[in-house]
Amino acid sequence: MSSFWSIWITVLSLGTLVGCYLLLRYCLKNFAGVEEGESMGHSFDGIEELNNPLPKWWSTFFLVTIIWGFGYFLMYPGLGNFEGLFGWKSSNQGILSLQESKAKAAHAKENNLIVQYDMEVKAADAKFGPIFEAFAARSIEDLASDDAALKVGQRLFLQNCSQCHGSDARGTTGFPNLADKDWLYGGTPADIKHSLMEGRKAQGMIAWETMLGGDQGVKDVAAYVISLSGREVNAESAKSGQEKFAMCAGCHGADGKGSTAMGIPLGAPNLADDIWLYGGSPRVVEQSIRHGRAGVMPAWKDILGEQKVHVISAYVYSLSQN
Ligand code: HEC
Ligand code: HEC
Repeated sequence: MSSFWSIWITVLSLGTLVGCYLLLRYCLKNFAGVEEGESMGHSFDGIEELNNPLPKWWSTFFLVTIIWGFGYFLMYPGLGNFEGLFGWKSSNQGILSLQESKAKAAHAKENNLIVQYDMEVKAADAKFGPIFEAFAARSIEDLASDDAALKVGQRLFLQNCSQCHGSDARGTTGFPNLADKDWLYGGTPADIKHSLMEGRKAQGMIAWETMLGGDQGVKDVAAYVISLSGREVNAESAKSGQEKFAMCAGCHGADGKGSTAMGIPLGAPNLADDIWLYGGSPRVVEQSIRHGRAGVMPAWKDILGEQKVHVISAYVYSLSQN
């Protein structure tokens, strides 16, 4: 930290504490011009306001917290570049840069110095490894009707997937619902597992505004797209949109119902089912077309490993099976 910022922070921090002390002193002064406990001369429906000071216990306590604050600044880093008398650092190993951290990790690996996290992971793997191994030997369909497997799958889902897909897997704007029968990339056990292992990156839904000849083009195509799910639109606008829809058919299908390559869905949503990834209001559909969309589903094979992915796949698969 440059000395300017160091001084800036120190002055602000100490200034605040001193300010608190002065405020306390000020509030303890008797400005009313009457003795403590006497009436201030105000009366509201017969209830009189007395000149009562701040309770002693309260002001003492406030004073103690201020003194505590000074003590804290003395012991711990906080005042700019001053490191505190305890030598404590927020990174418990004193690592302050990414390079340092990487070097330490490499050193630990080379010398078999296992840190706490690794030890815990190792212990957990030893305990739960056999369970996942047993699950991995069974098919996803089979696991999808096994309550114990689904429980494990659900737990893993809540930990790893719910922040995007929701704790009920019903998704939200931009993150697909996994509990319905509408799939971007297919809903067979193999498709789901593939989505998880490799991740999915929506490719090709570029911004179309220029290619559609500007704002009116976008509005026309949007009107046509909206008409596909049976809603009222301006017929003329939809008609000229339909002509332009040929540009979209390669991915979304000539009828807007999505398309597949050799049976595998291409990831371009069905536009005719009134199920929307990003929203179906005219404004949002126009936005999808105007600016493009690019959802990214992370790949999980290196994060969770195939055995865990297998069990989560069974959980996800089970959600759309009733
Ligand atoms: C960072 C957000 C995020 C996380 C975390 C995430 N996903 Fe996704 N997932 C997405 C997005 C975005 C898509 C859609 C990609 C697209 O638009 O092409 C998707 C797509 C999918 C699909 C394909 C859906 C279809 O209709 O074909 C499946 C299955 C899926 N996710 C399951 C999971 C599971 C299980 C997990 C936890 C291991 C998970 N996701 C974690 C964002 C996420
Ligand atoms: C190269 C393939 C491709 C072409 C061509 C394409 N799209 Fe898309 N479109 C996609 C993909 C993939 C997505 C999903 C993006 C995501 O998952 O984040 C998408 C999403 C959309 C959405 C959002 C759907 C929703 O459920 O919210 C709309 C609307 C849309 N496209 C309309 C069009 C229109 C209109 C055209 C032609 C002007 C077009 N697309 C051309 C691939 C394509």
